[in-house]
Amino acid sequence: MENRTRRVLVINGKGGCGKTTIATNLAVTFSSMQHTVALMDNDPQGSSTHWAEVRPAGLAPVSTIASHQRPNMYQTSSFHNRVPSDTEIIVVDGHSNARGKDLDSLLRQTDLILVPILPSAIDIRAGSRFITDLVTNKQYRLNPRPIGVIANRVQPNTEGHDKLINFLSCLDVPAVAQFRDSPIYVDAAEQGLGVMDMIDIRAARKEAVAWKNLVKWVSTKLNTKNSSGLKVAKKPLAASKKDITSGYSQSAEI
Ligand SMILES: Nc1ncnc2c1ncn2[C@@H]1O[C@H](COP(=O)(O)OP(=O)(O)OP(=O)(O)O)[C@@H](O)[C@H]1O
Ligand SMILES: [Mg+2]
Repeated sequence: MENRTRRVLVINGKGGCGKTTIATNLAVTFSSMQHTVALMDNDPQGSSTHWAEVRPAGLAPVSTIASHQRPNMYQTSSFHNRVPSDTEIIVVDGHSNARGKDLDSLLRQTDLILVPILPSAIDIRAGSRFITDLVTNKQYRLNPRPIGVIANRVQPNTEGHDKLINFLSCLDVPAVAQFRDSPIYVDAAEQGLGVMDMIDIRAARKEAVAWKNLVKWVSTKLNTKNSSGLKVAKKPLAASKKDITSGYSQSAEI
């Protein structure tokens, strides 16, 4: 792997779509796959910071940067936002209200963007608008980077799921993962865990394949190593309606 820290930004202008859930779980999955990872909380609500505070010791390490907090009078912002020097990946939990200069500055520092979308008409419309704004953003157009859409809280065989799959198949950006609507995510958030920490629970095991596949997609796009011993499905990640549908049934078989 090239010796440079890469940043993955999880963002959508719509609140509550799963940015923190995706960011924390992605950081845990990277860490559990032997990557050195940091989680940067860009949201003034501080949800990722709180998650990190309650994360039990002894689990896959995730260092945290509360970048939403102002540096104190003795610190520069670069000191305040520093990460361990061997950090390979910084996962940034973006906030829904990042606009203008805030968004430009986030985009300037980002190597890859993940946009979680929920399967409701309102969320699909808002997500679509957000992606359009993103790809037409001047900062993004100066240096286009990979974008992946994540279908979050999916419930297969429902109308909402079908609508989301239809929407994703019409997008120019690939749908790279989908995660089920499951109480394990709520439990994980409360306890400072990711589903990869809960692998003894059947529902978490079901989701683990999708998380590893997401890490594999991100790693490939960022040209980072896949650590040895990594158990990822051989099948490439979903990029179309057909793929994302079969990707789901694949994880459902576990
Ligand atoms: N796949 C999922 N299954 C079940 N619950 C989920 C899932 N993803 C997220 N949630 C729950 O939905 C709520 C909102 O998720 P989350 O906080 O990650 O969204 P967010 O986009 O970060 O919100 P905000 O805009 O407020 O920062 C949380 O209670 C979270 O536990
Ligand atoms: Mg959040």
